[in-house]
Amino acid sequence: MSDRVFLTFKEAVRHGLGDIEGLDAIDLGSGSGGKTRALASLGAVATGLEPQQSAVDQARERGGGPAYVMGSADAAPFGDAEFDLAVFTYSLHHCPDPVAALREAVRVVRPGGRIAVFEPEADDPIYPVAKLIDDEKMVYDLAQSAIAQVSNEAGLDRADPVRYATRYRVSTAEALIEGMVSVNPNRKRPDALTFKTLFDAALERDEDGVFIPCWERLDVLRKAA
Ligand SMILES: C[S@@+](CC[C@H](N)C(=O)[O-])C[C@H]1O[C@@H](n2cnc3c(N)ncnc32)[C@H](O)[C@@H]1O
Repeated sequence: MSDRVFLTFKEAVRHGLGDIEGLDAIDLGSGSGGKTRALASLGAVATGLEPQQSAVDQARERGGGPAYVMGSADAAPFGDAEFDLAVFTYSLHHCPDPVAALREAVRVVRPGGRIAVFEPEADDPIYPVAKLIDDEKMVYDLAQSAIAQVSNEAGLDRADPVRYATRYRVSTAEALIEGMVSVNPNRKRPDALTFKTLFDAALERDEDGVFIPCWERLDVLRKAA
């Protein structure tokens, strides 16, 4: 059990970014749009950018306000300085070139605007379980190095990261395997008994049921005005 505070995505946005009402926001790597809709529900004028057509289709079907555009963050199909806020919601470590993706975020944000990077952190309770399917520690570290590199080269003002935890609600080991394997065809199914033993050890419970704690960090970078 860690002493990290549990925050929902919206609480983390409020904590790290304050009031985002009326801001033009681009969600780079929006998937099926869950976080893009959350940004819109907090008052942002939100757009999602996502390279997978099936995810864009799902996001559009779910509606909720945001517009969605197909494309890759490292060649963002937007003009310079179109947004007040660019966010990566657990997508930067998926980008094949995170430095190029961050440079694009800097380009599309207005002077004085912000880039918010939500990323998982390894060494949390879900890590020993998840790494049996896909050990992502190296790509998490690459994403953090990219943040440091682009902050320095672009002269961004970098706030202390917000470090918190979320509750990943999954009731069975099999459901976690299905969830992880279905999003990436390169992922292999692990040995079921080893996986279940580690899964059971990581589970916690609250009034709403069982969950596995996941550690997250939010880095907020501000472009000079
Ligand atoms: C873990 S999912 C997160 C999706 C969504 N942001 C969320 O939090 O629900 C990672 C996303 O990054 C996207 N992605 C992968 N490569 C990308 C790239 N080059 N540019 C933008 N997004 C990318 C994937 O397609 C996927 O939708």
